[in-house]
Amino acid sequence: LNNGLGLTPQMGWNSWNFFGCNINETVIKETADALVSTGLADLGYIYVNIDDCWSSATRDLEGQLVPDPTTFPSGIKALADYIHEKGLKLGIYSDAGVFTCQVRPGSLYHEVDDAELFASWDVDYLKYDNCYNLGIDPKERYPPMQKALNETGREIFYSLCEWGVEDPALWAGKVGNSWRTTDDINDSWASMTTIADLNDKWAAYAGPGGWNDPDMLEVGNGGMTYQEYRAHFSIWALMKAPLLIGCDVRNMTAETFELLANKEVIAVNQDSLGVQGRKVHTSGTDGCAQVWAGPLSENRLVVGLWNRCSESTKVTAPWAALGLEDTTSVYIRDLWQHVELDGSTVLSFAVTVDSHDCRLFTFTPVTSYSKI
Ligand code: DGJ
Repeated sequence: LNNGLGLTPQMGWNSWNFFGCNINETVIKETADALVSTGLADLGYIYVNIDDCWSSATRDLEGQLVPDPTTFPSGIKALADYIHEKGLKLGIYSDAGVFTCQVRPGSLYHEVDDAELFASWDVDYLKYDNCYNLGIDPKERYPPMQKALNETGREIFYSLCEWGVEDPALWAGKVGNSWRTTDDINDSWASMTTIADLNDKWAAYAGPGGWNDPDMLEVGNGGMTYQEYRAHFSIWALMKAPLLIGCDVRNMTAETFELLANKEVIAVNQDSLGVQGRKVHTSGTDGCAQVWAGPLSENRLVVGLWNRCSESTKVTAPWAALGLEDTTSVYIRDLWQHVELDGSTVLSFAVTVDSHDCRLFTFTPVTSYSKI
């Protein structure tokens, strides 16, 4: 969407994956505090996004949405002020249906009122869900909110959460700054890998202003190993996915922080070229030894060697799969080890990767280069 927002994928935090409905204004404020005190905010994680369950079960007598008086007694404007004072931005959630998924009031046919209310609260981001949608085509339900947000005059990032039902990549580029391409992620290897593959299909449709959204990060929530979370974060970065942290940042382990705070991997995600990397080569049983890659600014490439096999495996990146000429030499930097590999390499690059881990590199061609 050409509204000046989302020139690179959005970064921040969202309450849903860890807290579900169990949210309140203290949790949101403490999360904002933690994003700042840990340094994650300085690394770009600036959106603090409240998901479902912030609102009361019914609208007020004037038909307006009301924050739940028990869990958000100070209201959303006060929360926005608190968050803005920290240099962060506040996101809120509603639904393009008559109810949210947790049966709070939805915004269908209340788009103008709700957009004006969000703008009056100084909200910076809207995630717009797809429950209780009366079977109406999403191409009719999502644009009215875009128009209403636009007419408030406030810059509000518009995140479509349509779950990939009607192939939003094909039409949402004009409507929103990102669109979910899949059903909900859960904190498991099976879910994360399935979602990566589904999102890959739509790579050609992503770019500055509008991104495919394979759902929020599960890094740090406990259901995957360190290697699996490293693969999750590497591939989400390479796919130009929104980097929305989904764990409790007030209580992160050092390992979780190390993954989320890798500046070189974040820089891949936030690269100015804005091209979504793709799965470009597979080998091994059921194609479990995978190469994911894409172009970066300054003629560089990002290359992910992702071992989805059940044993440690040598993963090879053939030059042809990267769009490189056979004779092209490259400088290679390892984004997890933070080292330049010795010298330059020609023809191919092979690394032994632990089971379920992903190694991530940038390639800088020394000679000719052709785009993949
Ligand atoms: C479905 C969405 O896909 C999730 O991300 C989350 O927002 C829940 N609804 C909330 O009910």
